[in-house]
Amino acid sequence: MILVTGGAGFIGANFVLDWLTTCDEPVLNLDKLTYAGNLHNLDSLQGDARHVFVQGDIGDAALVSRLLAQYQPRAVVNFAAESHVDRSIHGPEDFIQTNVLGTFRLLEAARHYWQALPAVNKEAFRFLHVSTDEVYGTLSATDPAFTEDNTYAPNSPYSASKAASDHLVRAWHHTYGLPVLTTNCSNNYGPLHFPEKLIPLMIVNALAGKNLPVYGDGMQVRDWLYVRDHCSAIRRVLEAGHLGETYNVGGWNEKPNIDIVNTVCALLDELRPRADGQSYRSQITYVKDRPGHDRRYAIDARKIERELGWKPAETFDTGIRKTVQWYLDNADWVANVQTGAYREWVQTQYQEAPVSAATCA
Ligand code: NAD
Ligand code: TYD
Repeated sequence: MILVTGGAGFIGANFVLDWLTTCDEPVLNLDKLTYAGNLHNLDSLQGDARHVFVQGDIGDAALVSRLLAQYQPRAVVNFAAESHVDRSIHGPEDFIQTNVLGTFRLLEAARHYWQALPAVNKEAFRFLHVSTDEVYGTLSATDPAFTEDNTYAPNSPYSASKAASDHLVRAWHHTYGLPVLTTNCSNNYGPLHFPEKLIPLMIVNALAGKNLPVYGDGMQVRDWLYVRDHCSAIRRVLEAGHLGETYNVGGWNEKPNIDIVNTVCALLDELRPRADGQSYRSQITYVKDRPGHDRRYAIDARKIERELGWKPAETFDTGIRKTVQWYLDNADWVANVQTGAYREWVQTQYQEAPVSAATCA
């Protein structure tokens, strides 16, 4: 069994679904179910004994220790975090609480559990920390892409809190020998993405006839990776990553924001044309820039390809088309998220249940 934290969120849920599609090793899913956690993301696992869901906080040391002792996972994959930069600017405290203190408590619980394991299990145990390229700060148009050797220079409360968590993970390896791995990934997109982030917000707003708010001049650059490619990278690092190492994960898809918005509009024009025959582009509205807005992120993903043989499967063209189509096909999911209905039935859907043992390669 593996313990996945934050497995009801965007990437965590995609990871759990992919994991249980590709192997039979059970997943213990610990998620606090903040506004970003949505058990509807895991609807297809209802009644599946390989998935055990527990609502709880990674910062709850007693709960995490109890779960580790009870379920004896061979690995922890830590997705749980506050993840939205704009929210971190508006209210940074939750980011410090979960991303810094929560990760610290999770590390401590994992360390005590790991130290008491029999030698063979101790050797096999892994703590994989899922992080972001935003810890490296911002690039100019001509700077080379981020490598794993870049210095950390986080600029937002979000990226600073993730940088702090990465440093804790690193220190727990160097000081205590905890077998850790860290991945630093670029911007993800795909199904189940909460519509506060750029791509799903643009799709959802466009269909609702609302403005498409582009911050500043729209020329900020991000590298985009289809979420299932991120999931496959994490599986590969968990399987074969070198202890204590960090791996940059990216899609080789650097794009200015305005190009992303134009692409979303063009796909919607094709797949769900507006009744009045106008392009969705007419809804684009330039708005005030984000404070401290990082200009460019770019990932050099050669290390993970060279050492672990991982490459993304999707191009941006294939991934963005699948994504737009997913939002068109899943209007109920969007409506649930927007009305908040997804939060009302949390307690009823999942409970801890006994699972059988199996291990993925
Ligand atoms: P998300 O906001 O969609 O989901 C986060 C999940 O964590 C939610 O289900 C939430 O309920 C849960 N959670 C929050 N606080 C918790 C706590 N204290 N205890 C337990 N669960 C808690 O985020 P995401 O986009 O899926 O990102 C997942 C991870 O990947 C984060 O660590 C993020 O920093 C990292 N990451 C995200 C991206 C991206 O583009 N979204 C890119 C690189 C790295
Ligand atoms: P976002 O999806 O919030 O991810 P991050 O800030 O972690 O990169 O934003 C992606 C880019 O899109 C970022 O440069 C900010 C910009 N953006 C907009 O222009 N308008 C929006 O409404 C949002 C949410 C983001």
